[in-house]
Parts: sequence; structure tokens; C-alpha cells
Amino acid sequence: MSKITRREALRAAVPAAAALAACKSVDRGAKGSVTQQEFGKMPNGESVTLFTLKNKNEVEISITNYGGIIVALKTFDGKGLLADVALGFDTLERYLQPHPYFGAIIGRYGNRIGKARFTLDGVTYTLAKNNGENSLHGGNEGFDKKLWKARTESGEGAQTLALEYTSPDGEEGYPGTLRTEVRYTLSDDDSLRIDYRATTDKKTVVNLTNHTYFNLAGQGSGDILNHEIEIRASRFTPVDAGLIPTGELRSVEGTPFDFRKPRRIGERIDANDEQIRLGGGYDHNFVLDREGEGLAMAARVAEPSTGRALEVWTTEPGMQFYTGNFLDGTITGKGGKAYPRRSGFCLETQHFPDSPNQPSFPSTVLEPGQEYRSTTVWKFLAVQPRK
Ligand code: GLA
Repeated sequence: MSKITRREALRAAVPAAAALAACKSVDRGAKGSVTQQEFGKMPNGESVTLFTLKNKNEVEISITNYGGIIVALKTFDGKGLLADVALGFDTLERYLQPHPYFGAIIGRYGNRIGKARFTLDGVTYTLAKNNGENSLHGGNEGFDKKLWKARTESGEGAQTLALEYTSPDGEEGYPGTLRTEVRYTLSDDDSLRIDYRATTDKKTVVNLTNHTYFNLAGQGSGDILNHEIEIRASRFTPVDAGLIPTGELRSVEGTPFDFRKPRRIGERIDANDEQIRLGGGYDHNFVLDREGEGLAMAARVAEPSTGRALEVWTTEPGMQFYTGNFLDGTITGKGGKAYPRRSGFCLETQHFPDSPNQPSFPSTVLEPGQEYRSTTVWKFLAVQPRK
């Protein structure tokens, strides 16, 4: 696979003096870059690309335009060592096989819609039942399985991959032509910003998110139970046996769901608690404590042995905290690493599951003439490792 960096391309294209200047900037390693390489082909022969955004510190994120999947995410630990903290695969071929949404953009509707149907203005729309009686993550062929149109932008201090996909009216049962844009921007402050936008030509529902599984000790390095997490939520949405919210917003006080102060993920993950049992661990939407609009901090996670930490900021009202309870070691990921139970966790910023059927939840309805907008920022940090 040939890989030409932006700086190499620049050097090839400019006269000698300018080339020297470009080389100097390479030596200092002081600039970010966006590079691309072929990742493989879709079954119909369409070519798929793997984009790599790198910032001036050499934090690096690789994303493919198949499903907008984050394939790799390299961040520094407290000793200055880089590791890939996202679960996934080395090849497009493997992503084309069934997998639990590793790194993918989720749409049109993140998480579950109960009984795989909802009603808008008296019309009932029927969705794919791909999770028991319910519809999960946009149906049989959600946004995680689409080939997105890609454009890159390399600017001062920020490298961007902009992805576009237009979902036709009626796709997966959802009404309206949904024009969607997802922008991934890596900045020199070691943050990755994800901006989602969508418009429709008919009243519809939409709830987009990203399904990256993190392991801040490095992907494939065992379970995530020693990570410490703080979640800024005083309430969560308890679920029924099909993991559909009951409609209640329950206080986390005195429950294993209270992460208002940092706690080890593993501390109460097998607690004798009905909600923990139903989720097989954590697989719940947290109602974020937020005031007004704009970005608010939702969670902070730290992995003590490496000192790698992550903050999640979002404009969304909720966040699904999923501890990889359905992983069972049968999937082999990058570098031949096995992914046992709970070897990755997801922080899916979102509107609440099943909102189209839950009038008391914040609305996920999008009308023609309106624009859906949502932003989530992952800030990568390194702290002193604890022995
Ligand atoms: C979400 C769901 C989980 C599971 C995973 C994918 O996070 O809430 O129950 O379906 O996606 O395996």
C-alpha cells in the first residue's frame, strides 16, 4: 500500500527552496497532516479509503469512509508512550463481516427503538427487528455499513475528515431523505471533535453517535475493569429485559450507577442489582447533568497503570455507558489480539434510547427546514501513572 503524506506531496510539487522549508517543518515534527491510503474494496468493487489525521504531537487517528469507522486511535500515556486505544480490525474485509459496531458512526437512530416501530403524525413506521423484538442502531444496514463521501481539510492546528451520506426516503423504514454530514477534527490540543449535522425533506427521527470501544491501556490488553470513570449524571434511564427504557428517570443515588465521583468500572459491575443484571453489567443511558446548551463535560475516564485519560464533552442530553458485556473472546482484532468480555467500553453520546416512543424524553424529531446538530469532543490526556 503506497502512502504519501501531505508534506511529501507538497515537497514533490514545489520548487527547491520551498521544499526545503517544508522539509524543515517535517524535521521539527511541528505540523499536523492528513494522509490517505487504499483500505480495500466494497463487494461491488467501489474503493474504500483509510484516512489518517495526525496532529503536531503525533497523536493519530485513522478513519475509513466505510461506516465512518475509527480504525485506530493512538494517544500518549503518562510516560510518553503511544498506544492504540480503540478496538477494531486491521482489514476492511473483516469490517465487512458482522461485528459489534467497532468505531462506527451509528444512524439513523443510535440504540434501541422498542418493538421496532414508532408513529409520527398518525403514521406508523416499521423498522427491522435486529435485536429481539426491537430495532438497534439504525437497522440491518445502518450508517455503520454505508460508504461515505469523504473530503479532507488540513489547517493550522486542525486536521479534518468530512464525511457525507444521503440516506434515501424510506431507507431501513425511516421517513425522509436524510442528508448527513459527520466531521472528525483532530486538533493540536489532543482533542477529537465530532460534529454531526442532518437535514430531512419529511418529518423524521434522528439520533447519531459513534460506537468506539476504548481500552486506555491499549486495545487487546485485557479487560477495562480497572479504569476509573466519573460520569456527570444524577439520573439514568432504567430498562426492561429487552433493554428498552421504562420511561423512568431514576436517581443514581445509592446505586451502582452513581459515578458522580470517580469509581473503578469493575467495582460494582456484578453487583446484586436488577438493572446491572438486565444489562449484564453497564449498558445504560445516563441523563447528563447539564445546564443550557453547548458543550458540557459528560465523563472522565483514567487508566491508572498507564496514566492515559479521556474526557468526553457533548451537546447531547444523554450518554450510553456500555462495558462490552457482549464481547466474549471469539472476535480476533488488530494485531491478532482477542477481545474478551468487557475488554472495551463505549461512551455513546446521544438522545435517550426509544425516544420516538417516549413522549416525556427530549425529542428526536427532525422537521424539514430544521437542522439536526450535535457535537462531541474527546479530549485525550496523560496523567501520572499509579503503581
Ligand atoms: C450498544 C447497545 C448494546 C450492544 C452494543 C453493540 O451499546 O446498548 O446493548 O448492542 O451497542 O453490541
